[in-house]
Amino acid sequence: MYVTRRATFSASHRLYNAELSEEENFRLFDKCASPNGHGHNYVLEVTVAGEVGEETGYVLDLKELKKILAREILDKVDHKHLNHDVDFLRGVIPTAENIAMAFWNVLAPAIPRGRLHSIRLQETENNAVEYRGEQK
Ligand code: NI
Repeated sequence: MYVTRRATFSASHRLYNAELSEEENFRLFDKCASPNGHGHNYVLEVTVAGEVGEETGYVLDLKELKKILAREILDKVDHKHLNHDVDFLRGVIPTAENIAMAFWNVLAPAIPRGRLHSIRLQETENNAVEYRGEQK
């Protein structure tokens, strides 16, 4: 069984690789490399896979997943600048792909029942990534 919790947050980012020249950055990332960054309204969907508990009828209590998401992710990224304000994104180019992988690494060990199945991150109405990482 797969259960999904959806959450939204707003954050700014700049796509920029400090190893590359200014020109190369603009060639790669275009206006996303502009110095002061820009913002998105992100939609995050976290899916947990597991057996349905006989006593609860749940894979895991989604109220509990909501709290974990708030504590581990949303409190740290909502209304923040992803390049500067988020400890677990330090040194990461905050593309949707890299953000999804970083969220996975934070959340996978924090899921109390079942196992993390996927992280879907929608950056714009038309662009989304989905990550199914390794279980450690
Ligand atoms: Ni962007």
